[in-house]
Parts: sequence; C-alpha cells; structure tokens
Amino acid sequence: MLLKVEKLSKWFPIKKGIFGKTFYVRAVENVNFELDKGEAVSLVGESGSGKTTLGKTVLRLYKPNGGRILFDGRDITDLDGKDLLWYRGETGIVQQDPYGSLPPHFTIYKILEEPLIIQKVGSREERRERVYSILREVRLPPEEFAFKYPHMLSGGQLQRVAIARAMILNPKLIVADEPVSMLDASVRVEILNLFAELQRAHRMSIMYITHDLSTTRYFSEKVFIMYAGHIVERAPTREILRNPIHPYTRALFNAIPDPDPENRFRLREVPPGEPPSLINPPPGCRFKPRCPIATSKCDEEPPEFEVFAGHFVKCWYPK
Ligand SMILES: Nc1ncnc2c1ncn2[C@@H]1O[C@H](COP(=O)(O)OP(=O)(O)OP(=O)(O)O)[C@@H](O)[C@H]1O
Ligand SMILES: [Mg+2]
Repeated sequence: MLLKVEKLSKWFPIKKGIFGKTFYVRAVENVNFELDKGEAVSLVGESGSGKTTLGKTVLRLYKPNGGRILFDGRDITDLDGKDLLWYRGETGIVQQDPYGSLPPHFTIYKILEEPLIIQKVGSREERRERVYSILREVRLPPEEFAFKYPHMLSGGQLQRVAIARAMILNPKLIVADEPVSMLDASVRVEILNLFAELQRAHRMSIMYITHDLSTTRYFSEKVFIMYAGHIVERAPTREILRNPIHPYTRALFNAIPDPDPENRFRLREVPPGEPPSLINPPPGCRFKPRCPIATSKCDEEPPEFEVFAGHFVKCWYPK
C-alpha cells in the first residue's frame, strides 16, 4: 500500500462579523482511504465539496487539523523542513488552470529543471537529459518547445508541460486537480489519454479530481464520492457502478444497467436543495437535509460500513 489516510480533517479559519470572531470552514472531515502503488482513483464531487482541499492536504501543501497520513509506511502528517522537501519529490500536482500554474517569466526548460535543482538531482548535463526526455514523453519535441515561454503555448500544450513538471522527479503519487476542465473539449480526451498512459507506464498512483463523472473512466480503478467534506462512498469502479448505495451516489448515477460503459455515468436529478454550510454543518450525516431516507439516527455521524470487499458507505442505512 502506498497511501493510507485516517480520519483526516482540514479546517480553514476565517474571520467574520464586526468583532472579527474566528469561524472554521470544515472543508474536509474524518476522511479515510487507502491507495495502492500504481493505483488510480477518481475523486468526484460537486463544487465546494472539498476535493481540492483533500488533494492538497494529502500532498501536505496544507497542514491537516486532525488525522494521519501514511505514505510508503512513513507518517508524513507533521513533516517539515528537509523531510517535507523529500515528500515534495515523491509527489506531484497538476492544477486546473494551465495559464496560472506555470511561472510566466521562465522558459519551459527552466520550469522543468527547477525541481531538479531544488532537489539537487544530477549534473547540469544529466538534468538536461531528464528535461528533454520528459518533454518527449509528453510529446512536446524539446527542440521546438524547451526554450519557449508559457504564453507561446496553447492550453493543451501548457497542461503537457504541467504534467511533465509533476513527473520530472519520478513521483510515486500525483494529484491531478481537474486537469482538463479549462481546456477545449477537443483536446481534453487527448490530454487524459496521454496522462493515463503515462500513469500506467510509470506505475504512478493518481488521485484524479473531477466533477465530471464521464471522465472518471480514464483513471478508473476506484471511485470516491465526496459530499460537503465527507467521502460518502468509495469502492472499485465496477462495483460502485453496479451497486451504488449511498443515497447521494444513487442520485448521481443512473443505476439502470447499460451495455455501453460510457453511458453508465449519466447524471440524474439530485434531490432538491443545496449542500450545507461548512461553517456550521449538520452534526451527523451532511446529506441528511436532502436525503429521502433519513431518520433522526442520521443526526449522529455515520461510520463507514464495508458492504462488500473494498466498498465503503458512510450511511446508517447501507442498503
Ligand atoms: N484557503 C481557504 N480559506 C478558507 N476557505 C477555503 C479555503 N480553501 C477552500 N475553502 C473552502 O473549503 C470548501 C472546500 O473547497 P475546495 O476548494 O476544496 O472544494 P472543491 O471540491 O475543490 O470545489 P471546486 O470543484 O469548485 O474546485 C469550500 O467551502 C471553500 O470555500
Ligand atoms: Mg477544486
């Protein structure tokens, strides 16, 4: 197992009101999951459900407020200094905005060489080799692209650079946070195919964050469903498609079997209402206010029931 996350929570302090009293946005709470080496998971949830916060906390770009993260058997929850630098080399991130996530005054070459310099990897010659080889892997011929600046590239080409940068140190884990949602529909498939191919070739574990269920098939060994800071259901993809259990997941998935796997990710109507405020969320199940089967029991936070091997549901009525 590469990654084990236990009861992970991340709260953001915010000041509100005339007295500047501090409140907390409980963006991620009591999240548990495991990821094997080389395994790909899609983290799905609507806007504001805590996907980015979870991804960044796992990468230790944020410090957790509670819980534990084990990476390759090592507790990385409280790493800092040199140890955290080591973890940076073991992990990578690709963000949503290809225009905003790369430094505009650096050439592509410098953008890719920088992590190698920070981590003190190789001689100048060896670094050059590495930069050129990763550019070839993401199919940007180095002769043409190495000395261009970000503004000279298209959104799709920039996302290839972002993928190259995330991979330059041969990380074991990559968080890809909506990597194609800002790109033209025409290049999305191309980028997702390339990414999935690289992920398999290098046996990287990947957390693919998306609100678009139809793209989960590119990184599809497991699916985690997030709602208002909780992972409400997590399971192998086939299993969750065949047997979605949490009322929120059931609302999202069309449970009617369809021979074409692509069509199984059709969206259905979610029960009316809005996700709760994360400053003062309901004490128990956060889906309770919208849930058709909720009872007073749901005022208590549900545990995760393992209804089938590897299939966990955070609901008091897991069937
Ligand atoms: N730095 C921050 N300070 C305060 N609140 C934050 C901060 N970052 C995120 N939040 C809040 O935490 C909650 C979860 O945000 P997050 O960005 O993780 O959601 P998301 O699922 O990635 O949404 P999206 O699909 O829109 O990217 C939101 O209510 C958001 O407003
Ligand atoms: Mg996000």
